[in-house]
Amino acid sequence: MQATAIAQPNIALVKYWGKRDLARNLPAVGSISVTLSGLQTEMTVRLNDAGHRDRLIVNGASAEKMLPRVSATLDRVIGEKREFAVVESRSNFPIAAGLASSASAFAALTMAAAAAAGRSLSQQELSRLAAESSGSAARSLYGGFVELRNGADEIHVSQLAAENDWPLSIIVAVTEAGPKAVGSTEAMEISRKTSPFYGNWLAHQDGDLDIARGAIEARDFAALASIAEHSCLKMHSVMWASRPPLVYWNPATLSCMQTVRDLQNSGADVFFTIDAGPQLKAICSPDDSDIVHDALRSTSGVIDVLRSALGGAARLVVDE
Ligand code: PMV
Repeated sequence: MQATAIAQPNIALVKYWGKRDLARNLPAVGSISVTLSGLQTEMTVRLNDAGHRDRLIVNGASAEKMLPRVSATLDRVIGEKREFAVVESRSNFPIAAGLASSASAFAALTMAAAAAAGRSLSQQELSRLAAESSGSAARSLYGGFVELRNGADEIHVSQLAAENDWPLSIIVAVTEAGPKAVGSTEAMEISRKTSPFYGNWLAHQDGDLDIARGAIEARDFAALASIAEHSCLKMHSVMWASRPPLVYWNPATLSCMQTVRDLQNSGADVFFTIDAGPQLKAICSPDDSDIVHDALRSTSGVIDVLRSALGGAARLVVDE
């Protein structure tokens, strides 16, 4: 049995940082994100009873390092007593772009694995399973504006608005290639254990989520911009105050931030967010996307600029 699914990366506007249950990979806070279009990961899972072990091929090359996380996902979705699988992943965007390639990869893998095994699971069940592999992957099961609510014992993911309800553009300014110095799981634990701001971060998240949800409902760009930049800078403040400090930015990240400020001062509808890496993501109105793109492209230290719109939910493309 074989199945293929496609999922797109997402970018958090109200950030997730910190885990409350490491074993189950449960987040310490809820989050709100936008799912992208154009950039995507296509994942094929082929169950093969003649195989002796799982195999993973990423963009045509064998990828042993990621295999344990992929096998663990297959165990969770299909069950530990399963056939071995050949998993093939193809992404049309650079992994070094800091675009949470794990979100689109584990969302697509979860969906393809369930279909290949003949398991019919709801979008909610798939997102809970994906969350156990990568917290942000749960959000890529849905399109448009997506909220991950942190319930008492489990998460609940839902769509707040569809991609066509409020079209926005996303411009990613890539300022550095190469993998991040500290992975997000390890970094979140460092923050939880050492950052003096961590408790405060947890205490105010629900209020931030309420404000962002209200801004999305009202299509209030200025209110969304304000809470999203606040959430981003607050998350990075938690990181900076950790021991050892977690500083993911480089000088070009700050230059991009200044570019966004200049654009805002000249009247453009744009705001920034930054994840656990040095790339800056600008969210803007489609009317302003050309000037935002050109301004970031000519910002000192920017090596590449990617453009995207809001995209839809993860989907199956082959089901044999
Ligand atoms: O899903 P993870 O474990 O890669 O963590 C994602 C963390 C951030 O990208 C920094 C924030 C977020 O909500 O996506």
